[in-house]
Amino acid sequence: MRESVIIIFLISLNQIYGQQMELIAGHVLFRHGDRTPITTYPTDPIKETDWPNGFGQLTNTGIEQHYRLGKYLRGRYGSILSLNYTASEIHVRSTDYDRTLMSAQANLAGLYRLYNISDDKIPIQPVPIHTVPTNEDFLLGLNDCPRYEQIEKEVHESDEFKNMNTHYKDFFKQLQIWTGMSNITMLNAWDIADTIYIEQIYNRTPSWANENVQKTLSDINEASFYFLNLNNDSKRIRGGPSIQDIFMNMNNSSRGQTYRKVKMYSAHDTTVSAALAFLGINYPHQPKYASALFLDLYKQNSTYYVKVEYLNVTDSNKAYPYLLNGCPAFECPLETFTAIYQPRFPTSVEVECTKNVPPTPPNNGKNKMLTVILCSIVFGLGILIIGTFGYFYCQRREHDAPLLSTESLSRFA
Ligand SMILES: *[C@@H]1O[C@H](CO)[C@@H](O)[C@H](O)[C@H]1NC(C)=O
Ligand SMILES: *[C@@H]1O[C@H](CO)[C@@H](O)[C@H](O)[C@H]1NC(C)=O
Ligand SMILES: *[C@@H]1O[C@H](CO)[C@@H](O)[C@H](O)[C@H]1NC(C)=O
Ligand SMILES: *[C@@H]1O[C@H](CO)[C@@H](O)[C@H](O)[C@H]1NC(C)=O
Ligand SMILES: *[C@@H]1O[C@H](CO)[C@@H](O)[C@H](O)[C@H]1NC(C)=O
Ligand SMILES: *[C@@H]1O[C@H](CO)[C@@H](O)[C@H](O)[C@H]1NC(C)=O
Ligand SMILES: *[C@@H]1O[C@H](CO)[C@@H](O)[C@H](O)[C@H]1NC(C)=O
Ligand SMILES: *[C@@H]1O[C@H](CO)[C@@H](O)[C@H](O)[C@H]1NC(C)=O
Repeated sequence: MRESVIIIFLISLNQIYGQQMELIAGHVLFRHGDRTPITTYPTDPIKETDWPNGFGQLTNTGIEQHYRLGKYLRGRYGSILSLNYTASEIHVRSTDYDRTLMSAQANLAGLYRLYNISDDKIPIQPVPIHTVPTNEDFLLGLNDCPRYEQIEKEVHESDEFKNMNTHYKDFFKQLQIWTGMSNITMLNAWDIADTIYIEQIYNRTPSWANENVQKTLSDINEASFYFLNLNNDSKRIRGGPSIQDIFMNMNNSSRGQTYRKVKMYSAHDTTVSAALAFLGINYPHQPKYASALFLDLYKQNSTYYVKVEYLNVTDSNKAYPYLLNGCPAFECPLETFTAIYQPRFPTSVEVECTKNVPPTPPNNGKNKMLTVILCSIVFGLGILIIGTFGYFYCQRREHDAPLLSTESLSRFA
């Protein structure tokens, strides 16, 4: 009796306020979990053999992070996913790396948990994880792509990039003494930043890498992600394919065609940041371990909506919604989303990855954000090594611009 009263009450609420947003399909693109360093520097006393499983491998912490994220996904997508693995409902794609494949496995163990397992039962639900060879992985941003290499080269030859190297010259010189590496530039400082970051997590930091040095390395790293994703071509080539794939599933769903209720993509920091940038979200940061970008499809009163959220902190349950440029609310009508992003989608890999002839000159528009970043970095560096240099630099620097990337081809983490 009481239940029917509540139901009638809810129905009338719906009539007054419109129907509830109903979750129709979920899409999640995440970074792998905590891993060991990918490389090291000559003076590093910690060698590859000192890390469990060697370089570039998911750690137990990373496994736990993804198991936990999988449990979060069960809460998030419980209304659309069966408790038991059902082939028609979900599709999982990973890059062909041990750490992303293992992250997907750990995640799925959290998403499809088993209860009350007896000894004679298999203690997991196996779930297929699809992949393609790295050099063909256009979807997740890793394939061999001459046009993308060309963009990088253009960036490296730009004045802004050279300026950045000049401004860090003294820091890099000092870094060369500390690390025993030669020719450190914006291109390879990231390797050191990443290794030091991990050594700090595992209490193995060398004595020279004090807090100031760590901060400067982290600034360089974060800025590099920002610069990498400024260029429309690089956004489209590296971030466009995954968003397009997600869009096609949403389009199918909204038109009564076959679709997956959940699509999961297991990839790298560079994949996540490029996908964010493609959507218009670019701020200086390196996506954290097991961070996740969500594009969920909702339906209300027969209208479909896309909601973009970013769970940007490891082991957190808080996904921040984003108001996309051109959308009226966090819940963006699929029609509006389509009008904004469809014209920006990549065409075929053949077209996108063919070099421009002649190469396009570096972009020289104005860019306030870059000035701010550059100034704050240089200012921090100034405190560290060259005193007030940064202050004068900021005073001087009126215009800016730049297409800047510090990304080397081999860099995805
Ligand atoms: C729901 O859709 C119907 C039919 O299009 C319309 O009459 C009604 O006003 C809509 N309700 C809300 C809350 O948008
Ligand atoms: C899931 O599969 C197990 C084993 O086949 C079965 O006992 C259980 O009833 C299934 N649960 C659901 C919700 O379908
Ligand atoms: C697991 O077993 C407990 C105790 O027998 C029972 O209460 C619970 O419902 C079971 N859980 C599932 C998911 O079957
Ligand atoms: C460092 O760079 C200079 C100039 O590009 C080059 O001549 C030199 O061979 C490089 N040294 C090493 C060790 O790579
Ligand atoms: C980059 O793409 C955006 C959105 O389509 C557009 O507004 C902007 O003009 C483009 N920038 C350049 C330099 O082409
Ligand atoms: C969306 O789906 C419809 C129906 O399947 C199809 O005709 C249309 O081409 C799709 N739109 C895009 C942009 O793929
Ligand atoms: C979308 O629908 C088309 C036509 O029905 C189908 O070929 C395609 O596989 C569907 N895509 C997904 C992701 O289900
Ligand atoms: C995560 O995103 C929120 C909202 O944009 C922001 O305030 C916060 O600083 C971000 N956290 C990290 C660690 O990037």
